[in-house]
Formats: sequence, C-alpha cells, structure tokens
Amino acid sequence: MSIKILMFGDTIGKIGREAVAKILPEFKTEYQPDLVVMNAENLAHGFGITKKIILEMQAAGVDVFTSGNHIWNNEKYEEVFADPDLNNLVLRPFNDKKNEGIGFTVIKKNNVKIFIASLSGLVFMEKDEASNFIPAADELVTKAAEAGAKISLIDFHAEATSEKAVLGLYLDGRVSAVVGTHTHVPTADERILPKGTAFISDIGMTGAHNQAIGGKFEPIIAGMKVGTIGKFEVPESGPIEVNAVIIEINKETGKATKIERIRRILNQPNIR
Ligand SMILES: [Fe+2]
Ligand SMILES: [Fe+2]
Repeated sequence: MSIKILMFGDTIGKIGREAVAKILPEFKTEYQPDLVVMNAENLAHGFGITKKIILEMQAAGVDVFTSGNHIWNNEKYEEVFADPDLNNLVLRPFNDKKNEGIGFTVIKKNNVKIFIASLSGLVFMEKDEASNFIPAADELVTKAAEAGAKISLIDFHAEATSEKAVLGLYLDGRVSAVVGTHTHVPTADERILPKGTAFISDIGMTGAHNQAIGGKFEPIIAGMKVGTIGKFEVPESGPIEVNAVIIEINKETGKATKIERIRRILNQPNIR
C-alpha cells in the first residue's frame, strides 16, 4: 500500500491561489492524494503570507505549507506563527538563520506519520540568510527518525540545479522525496533515485503564464533595461500555469515508487 503526496511549487498571488482552489478538487479526484503540500512563500501578492490567505488555501484543500526566502516579506507572517495550529503547518526553511520556529512538521494521514520539511539553498540567495544545508539535512533525517516517520518529504528551496542534484543524491534512500522550489520554472528531471528517493530539481510555479516567472513583464523589463531587478507585480488576470507533482511512496519501506509531473495551462484556450 502506498501514500500519495500532491505538491504544488511556489504559488503566486491571487491568481495563483484562485487557480489552485479551482483545480484542486479535480486533482483530488484524478490523483487521490493522501496529503497536499504547497510552497507558500509567494502567496500574498507575490511576497509572503497572511493568516487570511493561509486559511483560504486550507479551505481549498492544502494540508501543509513549505516556504523559502520570501516568507518574511509580509509582516503579517507574525499572525500566522502566533497561531499554534498554523505554526505547525506553515514551515520556514530549517536552516534559515531567522527561523523563528520550526522547519519541519509531522502529520498523520490515513494512520501514517508523514514528515515534511523546508530547507534553503545558498547560491544566489540573500547573503548569510541560511546556514549550510548539508548538516541541516542530516539533522532533518534524524528528526524524522526520532518522530518515527517512515515517509518524509523535503522541499529544497534553491536557485542552483547543482545544489539540488547533489542534495537529492546525498539524501537518496534516507528520505522519501526531495523536491525543489524557488526558480518558478519546472524541470523535466523527475525520477526515482537509485536508493528510492523521489526527486525533481524544481516543481515550477502556479502563477501567471508568459510573464516574468509569475510577475508582470513590463516593470521587470523596465528595471532590467537600466540594470536593476525591476518591480515584481502579480498580474490580476490572464493565462495561468499550474505546476505540481504527485509522488507515490511505499508505506512499509518509505521508498518512493513513482513521481509524476503535472502541468496545466488555464485561461488560455488557444495556445499552450
Ligand atoms: Fe518563489
Ligand atoms: Fe524563493
């Protein structure tokens, strides 16, 4: 018997949230997940989270939230972490130096303990924001064992595909799944690693399609023309891409047996 985890990557702004709320019932029917996970760092208009928004996504059917560097961008994160229930379900990267709480959680679904953790990479991330992810990953493996959870998933929020590939192999056979987030672009390298860990470098986002990785193209190109990063503004309408993965894990062994990419383009009937 297996446990199925459905995971959405970075979900961006209101149109991303609405897309998940719309498509999740369909995914639940089609894929029958036991657990739904989402990376929440971009939920509030592209930056951070609020309690209202987390509750909205819970109502839509998301069970656990991972995050990344943008989790701190909206001060309302405080109201989320002040709530004891949400504090256990909205994770901050375990190796983030600002981590004011927990980077992992254990929840029970269908009588099986599932360990979920959030971890950050180092390359191209804010300088000194996170500590080395290798010892942090070792610590997470220990925490999962201490909790008696055979099933475990780590969201590795990182820019560099090299960091992701190496961490996946380092954790192969020690966790059930290592999935990447942060770049907002899905990669086609999903596979089961030799010792039974499901892996993908990046799940990709749920957000505005044909824009600047979820932000409006115009303010970004205006910034890039003069050598700055530009302003990230979330479009209010238009085509949306939904990217997710469904992972199947053997309940007895904790090894993954399948990882499949899911990609849908909404609100764009003619072109893909
Ligand atoms: Fe993101
Ligand atoms: Fe990020």
